[in-house]
Amino acid sequence: MGVDREAIEMVFSMEFWRMAILWTLSLLFSYFHLLFSKPLSALFPSFQPSPSYPRCHLSTDPDSKAKRPICVITGATSGLGKAAAKALAREGYHVVLAGRCPDKLNKTIEEIKQKQEDAHVDAFEVDLSSIHSVMNFGSSIKQWLLDSNLHPSIQLLINNAGILAKSCRITADGFDQMMQTNYIGAFFLTNILLPLLKSSPVPSRVVNVTSFTHRFVFKFSSVASCEDFSVETLGKENLSCSSTLKGYPFASTYEYSKLCLLLFSYELHRQQLYVNNTSSAVSVMPADPGIVETDIMRELPPTLSQLALMVLRFLHLLQWPEIGVRPIIDAALAPPDASGKYFFGGQGRTIESSSLSYNTKLAEELWSVSSTLFREAQFSVVGSGSKSSL
Ligand SMILES: NC(=O)c1ccc[n+]([C@@H]2O[C@H](COP(=O)([O-])OP(=O)(O)OC[C@H]3O[C@@H](n4cnc5c(N)ncnc54)[C@H](OP(=O)(O)O)[C@@H]3O)[C@@H](O)[C@H]2O)c1
Repeated sequence: MGVDREAIEMVFSMEFWRMAILWTLSLLFSYFHLLFSKPLSALFPSFQPSPSYPRCHLSTDPDSKAKRPICVITGATSGLGKAAAKALAREGYHVVLAGRCPDKLNKTIEEIKQKQEDAHVDAFEVDLSSIHSVMNFGSSIKQWLLDSNLHPSIQLLINNAGILAKSCRITADGFDQMMQTNYIGAFFLTNILLPLLKSSPVPSRVVNVTSFTHRFVFKFSSVASCEDFSVETLGKENLSCSSTLKGYPFASTYEYSKLCLLLFSYELHRQQLYVNNTSSAVSVMPADPGIVETDIMRELPPTLSQLALMVLRFLHLLQWPEIGVRPIIDAALAPPDASGKYFFGGQGRTIESSSLSYNTKLAEELWSVSSTLFREAQFSVVGSGSKSSL
């Protein structure tokens, strides 16, 4: 009865309709772009279709298998992260599962090993919504490489962990939990692991799992109450939090977190273009899975999430994780010159993301603010040294 009341309350919130209507429209817009960019370019020569990229598989040479590239995947215990872990283990990667729940991590290792006995899989605990945990994770990875006599580098980082929170929760670090999990945690983790990515003897890469929902952020201040971007925008003060469903802008906060991840991806890509030594350049690919049947709606009232899944299935917009993961794997295996492209729709295809996501001034500001937070966190967090691997 209580659940139904919650569902009814949510149906009367603007955020619910934003999610139901605007998100479906933005997904349809992405598919329109995917399917009609070629015919449109034939009609309008100034219109450039987005390119597709082949997957570069690992060599089957047994010697190269001995030097398996290392791939770190966050949120690898469920949905798309788990599907990506299975696919990359099959490709020959040494997969490092990063998740917040030890039981789920162990279960995921078992599942992968059941299908593929010779898979190289390790698991480490990390909570992306805690700066302290992210820092410990970075130290554990470095220590693990050292202890295992592996080259002190990683080849692929997939920032996949994400939540769709229905209520505002403030983390111990003072951020909105959804913003910290979906964006701030990914920014911090990438910067912590960047030296390992840069020291890779083969080209390395970051894949950021974003979403078509970013298209409905037209103004960067849509969630924050200030016009200009500032440190406070990322903090709790300017996120209008409230414990009621009507009060917390959960749909817009999710969109905003995914736009931040995208701005960050393009900014990191631009910075890597200016790296003098091209062998230490890291390519950066955002990937958008479309709509996939996972646990992402776990916080929504079950009646509503079931109804949403039914409608999406009826519209043929819902995919299984094994299909939805394709753009993520395309991005992970594309040639380095695909850096900065937005992977969507599988088959190596890319499309354009929203025009706001290509705003370089905004991306620089976001980078600068996020870097300040990162530096402050590095000074304030004294690593406890506790090993978080399983
Ligand atoms: N499903 C879709 O339709 C869709 C569409 C576009 C984009 N995406 C994006 O795809 C990514 C994967 O989502 P999914 O659909 O696969 O959802 P999911 O099944 O709920 O998986 C999310 C994963 O993130 C992990 N996670 C959540 N909070 C975390 C934290 N604080 N620290 C570490 N890990 C955390 C979860 O761990 P636990 O298992 O411990 O909870 C889980 O493994 C997300 O970034 C999501 O925004 C999904």
